Amino acid sequence: MTSLITVGLLHPGQMGAAVGHELTKAGVRVLWCPIGRSDASVQRAEEAGLDAVPELGSLLERSSVAISLCPPAAAEETAVAIREAGFSGLFVEANAISPDRAERIAADMAAHGARTVDGCVIGPPPGGTVATHLYLSGEEAELAAVKDLFAGTAVVPIQMEGAVGAASALKMAYGSYQKAACALAGVAQALGRAHGVDQHLTAEARRLAKSPLATPEYLTGVAAKAWRWAPEMREVAQSLAEVGLPQEMAEAAATVFDLWELDKDNQELPLPQALDRLKRD
Ligand SMILES: NC(=O)c1ccc[n+]([C@@H]2O[C@H](COP(=O)([O-])OP(=O)(O)OC[C@H]3O[C@@H](n4cnc5c(N)ncnc54)[C@H](OP(=O)(O)O)[C@@H]3O)[C@@H](O)[C@H]2O)c1
Repeated sequence: MTSLITVGLLHPGQMGAAVGHELTKAGVRVLWCPIGRSDASVQRAEEAGLDAVPELGSLLERSSVAISLCPPAAAEETAVAIREAGFSGLFVEANAISPDRAERIAADMAAHGARTVDGCVIGPPPGGTVATHLYLSGEEAELAAVKDLFAGTAVVPIQMEGAVGAASALKMAYGSYQKAACALAGVAQALGRAHGVDQHLTAEARRLAKSPLATPEYLTGVAAKAWRWAPEMREVAQSLAEVGLPQEMAEAAATVFDLWELDKDNQELPLPQALDRLKRD
């Protein structure tokens, strides 16, 4: 079945090309702009069945929906380029950016006649065994249009309550853990390796694997023990420094644990109170 909708996709990276491919498989025409992009993007776009339009204005003139999926550092300039090209359709800002930035982009789009849905992608590029979730927030009518666009594809649209900014906030909250956990794991493995104990480290990590993010109630116990964990993290920082590894994350964790000092050994602390304790204002 061929859709009447044409989508402009900026740009076909690993995620963008895979998302675009889901749309082309569903009969949607997807346009992309090769200007300034690498051979790798050209190849991904071709494999995904996207049509190249070498002029942004003309691409956007033909598109009723524009999806931005690019490096987060380039999200605002990409949105500005789309707005400056005179786009007046539905803009899907799907990058990992702060809620403030998403709101600013949406306000700028609105001032120039385009509507914005805030989005965030959680999960690997579509097509594998783990589902790709596209969280969406904004105005009801626009959300429905984006949900319809992805209906039946491997990109699962999930409508959130809340305005533009909510989807970006979710991505920031998730990324703050997931990306920092990767940095921590890198540092921990390097410390283990520096002392030749990395195989034991990996074995213990596998044996005790549990995500504190997936079990937030566990954090009340962390708050109660934080008075002890803060100095332990400073020992970790010292151990890292001794073998020339970055110690800043260990020190930052100790600083967070310091904020729970007042909750020492309090096993009755409700979770919301424990989390509020981390707010600085
Ligand atoms: N990959 C994932 O597993 C994943 C998962 C969840 C969410 N996401 C989100 O998806 C978005 C894109 O990620 P990705 O993995 O597709 O990235 P990527 O593979 O690095 O691709 C980024 C695309 O943007 C282009 N690009 C690079 N620099 C640019 C610039 N300065 N201005 C405009 N475009 C530029 C690249 O083109 P050239 O390199 O050809 O110049 C490429 O086509 C991000 O916001 C990310 O948070 C990705």
